[in-house]
Amino acid sequence: MRKIIIDTDTGSDDAVAILMAMFSEEIEVCAITTVSGNCHLEQATKNCLQTLEIANTYYPPVYKGSHKPLFRDLFTAKGVHGEDGMGDQSLIHPTIKHHDGHAVDKILELIKKYPYEIEIITLGPLTNIAKAILLDKDTMSQVKQIYSMGTSGLGPGNCTPVSEFNVYVDAESYKVLLESGIPMTIIGFDICLGDSALQRKEIDLLMESENKTAHFAIQCNQRLYQYNLENTGQEFIDLPDPIAMGVLLWPEIVEKELKTHAKVMTNQDETYGQVIFYGDKRLVLANQYQSLDKNVSLVTKINHALFKTKLINILKNSQKNST
Ligand code: BDR
Ligand code: CA
Repeated sequence: MRKIIIDTDTGSDDAVAILMAMFSEEIEVCAITTVSGNCHLEQATKNCLQTLEIANTYYPPVYKGSHKPLFRDLFTAKGVHGEDGMGDQSLIHPTIKHHDGHAVDKILELIKKYPYEIEIITLGPLTNIAKAILLDKDTMSQVKQIYSMGTSGLGPGNCTPVSEFNVYVDAESYKVLLESGIPMTIIGFDICLGDSALQRKEIDLLMESENKTAHFAIQCNQRLYQYNLENTGQEFIDLPDPIAMGVLLWPEIVEKELKTHAKVMTNQDETYGQVIFYGDKRLVLANQYQSLDKNVSLVTKINHALFKTKLINILKNSQKNST
């Protein structure tokens, strides 16, 4: 059985990704570690615990991690996911508690226990992962694979014109990860829009089902739905973290991947958090970049219909939770 650690700044789309993992029979979630991002660490941790209670399958330990980025002040996404990160729907009243111990120490402990077996999926800023690498690079080099929802891929940013939220919050941490040599699959924001997002009819399908998990998944994304409507005039819920989880759980949804060199901008200017992907053969004049090592695999195309079918099935058929 694959052994997974989920590192998350649990906001509304992280919650859906966590539900997918908790219902998957192919993986074992060994721990969930939390980080400040969408909302502050304390709230992200509560949101994560509530999500586990909604799933009500098994209860991996939840460890709190970094409350702020490595060097910068925290920048949150409350305008997108709500004050509580979960759409401000009064959904968050967890009765279970997080475990003692710091996320960074627990990540390292698990990798030492299962060398070359642990796969990590990061759904928020990379602060915990960077700290673990800075503390014990040898141990972190024994991570089997990191799946990371971050960067704007080959498209524009969602936080600044060039930066995606998870990288923008803590680009210095992202740099530590990119330079670590850990095998890394990146799921960028560019593949999460358009047909990959849940459309009105799919939202209705989940709300009409007799299943409290499916309801929770849509309700917690109400603020995101409103945000998209106000800003684009269209009704949809984009799900970047669930797509990253989908790539981990269902490799068959990946249609194209680009092995490439990725570099993040950390200068404190307009490019802060921009990730440049080199070596996809478009740079014919500046071909000195072709020789850079290929440090990441960037997912550039998914089968969105297959992804959404699987997502809807896993949420609707979580029988234990039928209302
Ligand atoms: C990422 O930022 C957050 O808003 C989401 O949870 C996702 O991890 C998308 O840019
Ligand atoms: Ca997230």
